[in-house]
Amino acid sequence: MAATMGSLIGLVNKIQMACTVLGDHGGEGMSLWEALPTVAVVGGQSSGKSSVLESVVGRDFLPRGSGIVTRRPLVLQLHKIERGTEYAEFLHNPRKKFTDFAAVRKEIEDETERMTGRSKAISNRPIHLSIYSPNVVNLTLIDLPGLTKVAVEGQPESIVEDIENMVRSYVEKPNCIILAISPANQDIATSDAIKLAKEVDPTGDRTFGVVTKLDLMDAGTDCLDVLEGRSYRLQHPWVGIVNRSQADINKNVDMIAARRKEQEYFDSSPIYGHLAPKMGSVYLAKLLSKHLESVIRQKIPSLISLINKNIDDINAELDRIGRPIGADGGAQLYTILELCRAFDRVFKEHLDGGRPGGDR
Ligand code: GDP
Ligand code: NA
Ligand code: MG
Repeated sequence: MAATMGSLIGLVNKIQMACTVLGDHGGEGMSLWEALPTVAVVGGQSSGKSSVLESVVGRDFLPRGSGIVTRRPLVLQLHKIERGTEYAEFLHNPRKKFTDFAAVRKEIEDETERMTGRSKAISNRPIHLSIYSPNVVNLTLIDLPGLTKVAVEGQPESIVEDIENMVRSYVEKPNCIILAISPANQDIATSDAIKLAKEVDPTGDRTFGVVTKLDLMDAGTDCLDVLEGRSYRLQHPWVGIVNRSQADINKNVDMIAARRKEQEYFDSSPIYGHLAPKMGSVYLAKLLSKHLESVIRQKIPSLISLINKNIDDINAELDRIGRPIGADGGAQLYTILELCRAFDRVFKEHLDGGRPGGDR
């Protein structure tokens, strides 16, 4: 059953893609897009957001550096495939399959610049990237520019507010699961991520607190009060993370080695050892996937009615413009209609099959 639920998230990923296309086409798909759960990564600049994302994916592919590197939202869909070579694909260039992840990083940089120029300006227009791999869990993640407190040279004064508003526009949506990243070497109480999460999700239902840089804490201090939920209570357990340091990155320490090193850090820690099975980026990825599945399961009935509304809208549109004969806009709509019908069927099966007792 767990495998089926994984494939359910895979289906939702496909709907999101279809809705994105439909959104570009006519705009009718957006309500469906917004009903589906996503995970957004939120935190201050250099808090470790890109590092956490890369760990969850298990691949190096994000532009990194000091200062404001992420200047457009990145909507990242992970698709688990059973076998084969992993590859990535951008929505803005769907014909090109990337197997070289350094080239993915370069394309994110180039596509950012296409929209914003080489300046330090930001844009609300997201970049859509899909990664197909046997080594990922099915998940949709959104990387956002880091929250900042001051504009740097070349940036308008409004940038602090612009970034906060952009981030808020994602995390205020009730379907958004917030990955709130706080570095352990700063006071969690003043964490930008927690401050924003508190504001848009006061009950903490959809916020996952992630503490990075545990290895960089001052000797004699620790993060147990936070990780054990005493400092700031969330509905979900806090997860501690040890990402690669800048020195590791410079030495090209790969992801697999980094994950192993992270696990060793927790296993051998006199302070965090008792929490080791529930710490680290592998555990975080599993926790997120599991949560996403349960959210989707709760949403199946409303998804079914939204999909049916989509089917009705598309049918009305097809009646208006005529049924397709070639590869024109009508044909695209028709394909999406077929997709929606298929999703409707599958969701209903899950709804029926998932009822007695549940599987978790
Ligand atoms: P972002 O700006 O929030 O996306 O942060 P990055 O992921 O780019 O990380 C910023 C810097 O902090 C990089 O030099 C990382 O190597 C470093 N870093 C991130 N997380 C950790 C961690 O857990 N431990 C250590 N030692 N360094 C980290
Ligand atoms: Na950074
Ligand atoms: Mg970053």
